[in-house]
Formats: sequence, C-alpha cells, structure tokens
Amino acid sequence: MYSEKVMDHFMNPRNVGEIENADAIGEVGNAKCGDIMKIYLKIENDVIIDAKFKTFGCGAAVATSSMATELVVGKTIEEALKITNKAVAEALDGLPPVKMHCSNLAEEAIKAAIEDYLVKTGRLEKNCDGEVCGRRCDDIHHHMDIED
Ligand code: FES
Repeated sequence: MYSEKVMDHFMNPRNVGEIENADAIGEVGNAKCGDIMKIYLKIENDVIIDAKFKTFGCGAAVATSSMATELVVGKTIEEALKITNKAVAEALDGLPPVKMHCSNLAEEAIKAAIEDYLVKTGRLEKNCDGEVCGRRCDDIHHHMDIED
C-alpha cells in the first residue's frame, strides 16, 4: 500500500524537532482528523537554509512532513511557495489515494511559515481579522498604528 520511500520517511523521519530562533513558523491542522503539523524555517536572504518539523498525525502526514523539510532546504521562498502537496507525494513515490489529503498539511505548513516570514519582515500585513491579505484594508480605524 505504501511505497518504500513513504515507509522510510515514516520510520526514520528527517529533520524532526524545532529550530531555536526560527525565522518563520507555520502551524496547520487538518480539521477532519485533528492532525497537526508545525514547521520551523531558518531563512537567510530569502533562501531557506534549514527546516525542522513536528507532526502529530498519521504515518502519511509524518512522511510528507519529513519529505517537505528536505524539499524546501536550499530553495528561495518563492520556489518553496510553489511546492504542492502533489509534488511532495510524488517525491515519496506516491501515496494511496485515500491518504493524499494528508499531504495537504505539508504544503499548507510551508505556505503558513513563509507567510509568517513575510509578515515578520514587513512584506505582508495582517487584515482586521488577523488574516494575511497582502494589502491593508481601507478601514483606517483598524490600522491606526500602521504608517503609510
Ligand atoms: Fe490526518 Fe493523515 S489522517 S493527516
């Protein structure tokens, strides 16, 4: 049912843990199963130089998290944003169709971490609901503290 690569990354996950003073952290959850993935990135000049993860989830979620950390290291943040859950699954020689949704955690966690990085470096703003929208909303009362 599972490829050798999936089993390998599940039994011996790479880059498990946390990065102290990470430049970005992304945490996402799968509402249906309750599984959670947290990814930590070290970024220099917009290039990801280190990645670690913690995943509380099924074997496919652990394997895809592990592969995702391997895929992002060495990539620019723009390149990392283009990594899809399909690409992560393909790098593991595929996942059974019923487990494909588990790979969403990896893609979403990478995106959440990069969003976090862009907010921290002042390149994205959070909107009134605390969501990243990439632009400021027009309600000045919510953004009194943001300079133009
Ligand atoms: Fe929850 Fe796989 S069953 S991520």
